[in-house]
Amino acid sequence: MRASGVVAAATALAAALAVLAKDPFAEECRRQEYPPSGPRFKGKIPTYIINLDLPPSERWTQLAHDKQTELTGVLQTLKKMLASFAPTEKFIAALESKFAWIGSTLPYPFNEEIKGIASAINVPLGDIVVFNIFYEIFTVCTSIVAEDSSGKLYHARNLDFGLFLGWDVKNSTWSTTELLRPLMVSLDFQRNNKTVFKSSNLAGYVGMISGVKPGIFTLTMNERFSVDGGYIGLFEWILGQRDGWWMSFLTRNLLENSTSYEDAKEKLTNTKLLAPAYFILAGNKSGEGCIITRSRTTALDIWNLDLKRGIWYLVETNYDRWKDPFVLDNRRDPAMKCLNQTKQENISLPAIFNILSTKPVLNKLTVSTTLLEVSEGHIESYLRDCPTPCSPW
Ligand SMILES: *[C@@H]1O[C@H](CO)[C@@H](O)[C@H](O)[C@H]1NC(C)=O
Ligand SMILES: *[C@@H]1O[C@H](CO)[C@@H](O)[C@H](O)[C@H]1NC(C)=O
Ligand SMILES: *[C@@H]1O[C@H](CO)[C@@H](O)[C@H](O)[C@H]1NC(C)=O
Ligand SMILES: *[C@@H]1O[C@H](CO)[C@@H](O)[C@H](O)[C@H]1NC(C)=O
Ligand SMILES: *[C@@H]1O[C@H](CO)[C@@H](O)[C@H](O)[C@H]1NC(C)=O
Ligand SMILES: *[C@@H]1O[C@H](CO)[C@@H](O)[C@H](O)[C@H]1NC(C)=O
Repeated sequence: MRASGVVAAATALAAALAVLAKDPFAEECRRQEYPPSGPRFKGKIPTYIINLDLPPSERWTQLAHDKQTELTGVLQTLKKMLASFAPTEKFIAALESKFAWIGSTLPYPFNEEIKGIASAINVPLGDIVVFNIFYEIFTVCTSIVAEDSSGKLYHARNLDFGLFLGWDVKNSTWSTTELLRPLMVSLDFQRNNKTVFKSSNLAGYVGMISGVKPGIFTLTMNERFSVDGGYIGLFEWILGQRDGWWMSFLTRNLLENSTSYEDAKEKLTNTKLLAPAYFILAGNKSGEGCIITRSRTTALDIWNLDLKRGIWYLVETNYDRWKDPFVLDNRRDPAMKCLNQTKQENISLPAIFNILSTKPVLNKLTVSTTLLEVSEGHIESYLRDCPTPCSPW
């Protein structure tokens, strides 16, 4: 009786999955979404110069001040969510001081920068540390690298953030995703008044998950879920084993200090990490583009552009390329379908923007779309919205 009940339930679930596998939110590839306007466009984002000649603790002061209200709001919400799992207020306070302590163990200049942000807006250091860690855990994304017929490389990403963080039934939105949109900024990192690299990111966050180093490379990072995940690395860090890199600190380090595609590729391949990740890297020359699938210790796969064999684009969502994506989260095939339809001779940043505007590549978690072009050192970012009906992720 019980067993047959289980079988019946499993069958029903399998049937439901099969129905859902034909994504009810999928649609034809979008056209003419660029320049951005209409209901899928939520606005432009402001640009800030981050002066690397300043001491790390002072670099983010202006930005932190300007975004103080929004940032404090997000921190309050994260704390409330944490509190709903926590037994007592004393536990929260203990946790906060634990996170403050983790902040002090972070490598230079990140430790100093995080401290600078916390003191600029007068919040506990632990809160900013939690924010920086949460970002790495709850980000799901789509990244695309493509080369046009003349050998020019394009790179773009949707930033999808806030998975599982508070579904708002009434508004059909993720409440955290909504709160994060106003925090998006474009950043121009300068030394001696000259651009070193550009990025777009959430204010309050000091690692980088996308960026362009003009004339050299473009880089994005996507979350990779794995059993041997970030929690183990985080525990090891707390226990004192600190030889792995935080992923977005590595990408920030390379955008700031690496001087070639080859050098960045080598370091993304071989540096020990705190958690698994996908790195999507493209250079300034034809054929320079790859997706590096990382475990904490090694590169499991390096997937290169290969024009001779017709591989003129690469797509990464949050799944290994040799595995099927999770049946309820297939953004990869829709993106590939639209790239195939566009064809290499018609690829361009506007064409990629159209693809990243197509549901379910565009979904309820999508905070922004960023377009990167290496030879001009170009970056543009737009806030996004996915009008109902739209996939929740
Ligand atoms: C839900 O939408 C209403 C009306 O647009 C708005 O006033 C409210 O703030 C939204 N709630 C959240 C949590 O975003
Ligand atoms: C950068 O420019 C500002 C104003 O344009 C100038 O005051 C400053 O000395 C310059 N800094 C460097 C390092 O060249
Ligand atoms: C990047 O590529 C463009 C176009 O091929 C070229 O003009 C430029 O010199 C390259 N930049 C660097 C730094 O190699
Ligand atoms: C880049 O290199 C400089 C000089 O060695 C160093 O001071 C800086 O902290 C490095 N940047 C990052 C993000 O690690
Ligand atoms: C896109 O084209 C490639 C190469 O022809 C093919 O292998 C792939 O199955 C196509 N994908 C989709 C989703 O159409
Ligand atoms: C692709 O480009 C060709 C020639 O520039 C143009 O005729 C065609 O309409 C374009 N196709 C799409 C789907 O934009």
